[in-house]
Amino acid sequence: AVHDTEQTIARNRLLPVVVIDDAAAAEPLADALIAGGLPCAEITFRTAAAADAIKAMAARSEMAVGAGTVLTVEQVDRAVDAGAKFVVSPGFAPAVVQRCRDLNIPVYPGAATATEIQMALDAGLGTVKFFPAEQLGGAAMIKALAAPFRQVTFIPTGGVTTDNLGEYLALPSVLAVGGTWMVAADLLKNRDWAEVTRRTRAAVERVSR
Ligand code: 3PG
Repeated sequence: AVHDTEQTIARNRLLPVVVIDDAAAAEPLADALIAGGLPCAEITFRTAAAADAIKAMAARSEMAVGAGTVLTVEQVDRAVDAGAKFVVSPGFAPAVVQRCRDLNIPVYPGAATATEIQMALDAGLGTVKFFPAEQLGGAAMIKALAAPFRQVTFIPTGGVTTDNLGEYLALPSVLAVGGTWMVAADLLKNRDWAEVTRRTRAAVERVSR
């Protein structure tokens, strides 16, 4: 399972980060992402609707759905029970990482420094979320961090858009980029699925250029 998820993320190279207030929006959102050519999403535990939204999306066999903003072991368990196939955290929490390892679910903790990358390595991980990517120095910072950590891959997230994702994906150490821009809050609020599909398709096209 670890393998499948990593391959899906590596193949798509894009990870929409979703903040969803109403689980009823999960199904049309999945449709909109699939229509845009991107059958994956990270549903963040920033809202009470997260677990139900994961459940609704996980029911779609073509969707690789994971949980984001996972801060506690209890959230890991709720995410996995709901059908999440991977877990993302903004930072490195040893207990969260350990629970994911015990459950054999891929986990991408946030890392912003060399020390945090070493914590991930010590925990047996090979991929970290680089967060917040733009504010930390963007692709140039990842390039510098990748020099000593040759085996580590990164999922930069934070300030990434279709306009700058090419700088990140040009780096061999970047597995995929994440961000909210394809599924921005106003689009979800207004149920603007056509615009979600349009932005998703634009990003997918940019990735394949
Ligand atoms: C995240 O949790 O990954 C960030 O909120 C995404 O940042 P963005 O909104 O700048 O894409």
